[in-house]
Amino acid sequence: MITFEGVTKRYPGGTVALDDVSLDCPTGRITVFVGTSGGGKTTALRTVNRMVEPTSGRVLIDGQDVREHKPAELRRGIGYVIQHAGLFPHRTIEDNIATVPYLLRWNKKKARARAHELMERVGLERAMARRYPFQLSGGQQQRVGVARALAADPPIMLMDEPFSAVDPVVRTELQDEFLRLQEELHKTIVFVTHDVDEAIKLGDRIAVFQTGGRLVQVDSPETLLARPANDFVAGFIGHDRGIRRLSFIPASSAPLHERDVLPADTQVERARDASGGWVLVVDADRRPLGWAATGALPGSGVLGDVDLAPIGHTFDVTGDSVRAALDAAILSPSGRAVGVDGAGRLVGVADQHDLSTAIARADAAAEPRPAEATGDGG
Ligand SMILES: Nc1ncnc2c1ncn2[C@@H]1O[C@H](COP(=O)(O)OP(=O)(O)O)[C@@H](O)[C@H]1O
Ligand SMILES: [Mg+2]
Repeated sequence: MITFEGVTKRYPGGTVALDDVSLDCPTGRITVFVGTSGGGKTTALRTVNRMVEPTSGRVLIDGQDVREHKPAELRRGIGYVIQHAGLFPHRTIEDNIATVPYLLRWNKKKARARAHELMERVGLERAMARRYPFQLSGGQQQRVGVARALAADPPIMLMDEPFSAVDPVVRTELQDEFLRLQEELHKTIVFVTHDVDEAIKLGDRIAVFQTGGRLVQVDSPETLLARPANDFVAGFIGHDRGIRRLSFIPASSAPLHERDVLPADTQVERARDASGGWVLVVDADRRPLGWAATGALPGSGVLGDVDLAPIGHTFDVTGDSVRAALDAAILSPSGRAVGVDGAGRLVGVADQHDLSTAIARADAAAEPRPAEATGDGG
């Protein structure tokens, strides 16, 4: 765990970059520092590897003050990734990645083997090993930067806006792969970004910095969206935080029902008195086939022979959020979302009212308890 204890940084000239910051960054988790430009995020990050020395307060790693280590020694145990990758232009990709192993005096063969292994890990083709940074795209260079930071398998990674300089499509790819990698590696990560969406996507915990180096809130993404500590945080998160919060409410918390669900071999007469004008037709395995409009049914026959309106997309009751379910309901011809299990079989149907019930339940569960109303940063 990385612990900030009352850390203040005042630069010569009087700028207060950090104002009495205290927080914990738990082991094996991603803590994101987010906030306005100049809010002190980079300064805070750099106090961990002693690129910045606090004016007062201290930073501890697993209870030990970082000042007990020489900076060079400390930094070998801490991966560091920055915005434009910061690669050495005159070194090949494999030698860039092997920077720290070389410093640790690994032999060349072992260092390069490690570099090649990491290239595969971060999704770089082996053929790039002998290229130079300028021969790679921005996104590929960032992957090299991540691989380099991981080379000596440090338990801690500091990442300062590592994905900010690439286009949105590549950024999404890098974020997804970063999360996949972290699932395997369980590093203790401090990740700086100015992008709230990135913070919410990547962070297990989010620390919000306000101008003047003040830490205003530290919470899980869910709690941050549900209960911003003050107007600054609320404004910073944005007006659609209500919609975004739906991503954290499991669709399984919505009441599902089986009204107006009929198998394909049902006679059409039985479908006529369906409420709401639509019947969901399922096969013998309970796989949804489509919606039948009751006003357009033929005089006789079975539902399986009727022209069905496509379902659009279903939602997975075991893994999807209310946001996915609501999207399915909005796009559905019947206005109802079809919930399935992992095998694609019907679990139940939810309309928009059912989904708002799930939201109301989550709201009730998120009522602030006085002791933690502003998180541990407030
Ligand atoms: N080396 C420095 N000397 C003087 N002021 C600095 C220095 N580095 C950062 N600052 C100032 O400290 C404040 C916080 O900067 P920084 O930590 O880079 O913010 P962020 O990363 O949140 O954008 C800013 O006002 C910045 O201008
Ligand atoms: Mg910065």
